[in-house]
Amino acid sequence: MPRKIIIDTDPGQDDAVAILLALASPEDVDVLGITAVAGNVPLHHTSRNARIVCEVAGKVDVPVFAGCDAPLARKLVTAEHVHGKTGLDGIDLPDPKMPMQDQHGVDFIIETLRKQPPGTVTLCPLGPLTNIATAFRKAPEIVARVQEIVLMGGAYFEVGNITPTAEFNIYVDPEAADIVFKSGAPITVMSLDVTHKALVTHPRVEAFAALGTHVGKVVAGWTHFFERFDVAKYGSQGAPLHDPTVIAYLIQPELFASRYINVEIETQSDLTLGMTVADWWGVSGRAPNATWAGSIAADGFFDLLTERLARL
Ligand code: BDR
Ligand code: CA
Repeated sequence: MPRKIIIDTDPGQDDAVAILLALASPEDVDVLGITAVAGNVPLHHTSRNARIVCEVAGKVDVPVFAGCDAPLARKLVTAEHVHGKTGLDGIDLPDPKMPMQDQHGVDFIIETLRKQPPGTVTLCPLGPLTNIATAFRKAPEIVARVQEIVLMGGAYFEVGNITPTAEFNIYVDPEAADIVFKSGAPITVMSLDVTHKALVTHPRVEAFAALGTHVGKVVAGWTHFFERFDVAKYGSQGAPLHDPTVIAYLIQPELFASRYINVEIETQSDLTLGMTVADWWGVSGRAPNATWAGSIAADGFFDLLTERLARL
């Protein structure tokens, strides 16, 4: 039986590839809906981009909802410097024809968790945790009905990307992240510790292009576009492909090695705001609340991705 999932996202080229991987894998994941959140770019872009991605995949029946347009307690910080003005720069794509659902994304999350049997819906946040935290605040009883939250966010060994100590998704809405990490729901974290080991090197971009399909061309265009930022910053051979690791974990968890540890979110300090204080070495005595992936079999991950994208 495929796992029922809701993808909560701020596309973003890497979010887009994650959505494609999920839509290409119906035997593993059943995408009940996609909820957009403000993050890499403002909500009007992310909610539009999510629909563009569904159309690229040819899956126009997946309902797409617009969620929160700003973090719980702060001004939105965006990342056009990485993802371009639209969030999906890299290849020109037509305006989406698919409608946006009328319902608010947060209400869709609440309604779905209430409607589906307890423990059968997995949340896959790929952006700031604003929608998830708002749903948990509005309807606290849904927390116990969540099967698992598998999210991209945070860092321990890799420390930070948007600041020296914080990863973008957590930094943008640290209060929301704090609510989610304290919620008691089972959480699995794909942090920069993992994604910085999943680089889209030139041969990997070429493998997407060599699929010879529209999807292959689009993914090669996106990944080639956003690599320029990380290659210049880290001197690496390609950009980390962050968000698809979440979906890959649902399909092939054996690609990852993890530890069940305590993770707390810094919400007070100006200097380290949004830091994920991950007790990888078990020195704090605080109770574990998250499964933290520390490594990934990168070749296996890219083989899976390329094989699945070839289906679309
Ligand atoms: C995360 O931030 C965004 O820029 C990416 O889409 C990813 O979700 C990486 O820090
Ligand atoms: Ca993202």
